[in-house]
Amino acid sequence: MSLLITGGTVVGPTGRYPADVLVEGETIAALFAPGRAASPEGGVTADRTIDATGKLVIPGGIDVHTHMELPFGGTNASDTFETGTRAAAHGGTTTIIDFALQRTGEVVQDGLAAWRAKADGNCHVDYGFHMILGGVDDDALKAMDQLVADEGVTSFKLFMAYPGVFYSDDGQVLRAMQRARENGAIIMMHAENGIAIDVLVGQALARGETDPIHHGLTRPEALEAEATSRAIALASVARDCPLYIVHLSASRALDAVGRARDDGRNVFAETCPQYLYLTLEDQLGAPGFAGAKWVCSTPLRSKHESHHRDLWRGLRSNDLAIVSTDHCPFCFKDQKELGIGDFSKIPNGIGGVEHRVDLIYQGVADGKLSLERWVETIATTPARMFGLYPRKGVIAPGSDADIVVYDPAGHTRISVETHHMNMDHSAYEGYEISGAVNTVISRGSVLLADGEYHGRKGHGEFLRRGLSSYLV
Ligand code: URP
Ligand code: ZN
Ligand code: ZN
Repeated sequence: MSLLITGGTVVGPTGRYPADVLVEGETIAALFAPGRAASPEGGVTADRTIDATGKLVIPGGIDVHTHMELPFGGTNASDTFETGTRAAAHGGTTTIIDFALQRTGEVVQDGLAAWRAKADGNCHVDYGFHMILGGVDDDALKAMDQLVADEGVTSFKLFMAYPGVFYSDDGQVLRAMQRARENGAIIMMHAENGIAIDVLVGQALARGETDPIHHGLTRPEALEAEATSRAIALASVARDCPLYIVHLSASRALDAVGRARDDGRNVFAETCPQYLYLTLEDQLGAPGFAGAKWVCSTPLRSKHESHHRDLWRGLRSNDLAIVSTDHCPFCFKDQKELGIGDFSKIPNGIGGVEHRVDLIYQGVADGKLSLERWVETIATTPARMFGLYPRKGVIAPGSDADIVVYDPAGHTRISVETHHMNMDHSAYEGYEISGAVNTVISRGSVLLADGEYHGRKGHGEFLRRGLSSYLV
């Protein structure tokens, strides 16, 4: 089966140019000067032609931070691998990297096998795994080597937050970082001082402060900045182990990352759309219990401070390398409601895997980001950071034919009425986007075209990832 995408503007991190893209089977076969492929000299007769005139042709989005079916806060994230990857496909994301989970006392390989069992045969788009280490001990450290060498799992998430759940102390963090430095893995860090946060949470509840906004007020910026700086210091002690700060939300945490990068350190960071658009006051502080929809960690930050402005700047300057979603959806009914009367019992997480490509394109439409940087932060750098490049993240001969045709003249309205995620609300209800996903192709299969969905569960394949392209 061959496919010719004609008339579009191909966009990559280094520029944009008019080109026709030929797909043969699952891969990109060639790029042609406009019109040349189908001319007598080009000699291409494709089985199917997609007219992309006036549209952008970009590599499929790669969301490197999702949590399908994550057990958390006494319940499970509401998207399965099937529903979540179907929603991802609708929004132009053709690869996800989710998190397998090991807790204290559990065997790391068992955790990976359990998550493979949930995902294998169920995904609409390609998928890989990072490994959450919730119990760093001698066995877990050995398992890191095996996952890197044999399983294509080359990144490990640690938590400085959530004591008693996923938390690692500084000694555990350091040992895992030392191991990663040796085996080539990258350490992903949830950087919040969970011990101090738990004190603040207990004090707030004792004062009768039970509403969702207190989730944010008990996780102040200082405790994200402190943990970020501590993680950077520990990574430096571990001979500059590559460190990737996840879901960075706050200006002072970004400052710490920026300083480390100015010093030439192996430190990287992501942010998520919720931290670029939503606020402590307007969403988390919504009247009554409604703010529970936006309880996530790190939390939404105050609109009276400079976070949104600084995070967009960080995306431009590359101190923030990637936009992921940290997609961790919970329904309001029966799930978020577990925390009525006690904000600390609200399951943490926001769903957004379907909207990342659009929401960051809105930054382009608003003049905050270039087209090239949009593609780089949502597709190319994710592939490079997590060992998928050049198979993914670029429109080039030999790469997987994961392609999105994006309509810059289109329009998207985000709503629970139209989204495909398994959630009974939308964190971005009513948001208007000045652009629209038009066509989505995954390994040469057209998943979405002309408003119709053709994907199926089982199309998505497990990705054995290599080491990060950014390793030095
Ligand atoms: O609130 C969040 N972020 N939930 C998902 C788990 C995590 O910490 O990434
Ligand atoms: Zn986290
Ligand atoms: Zn997460």
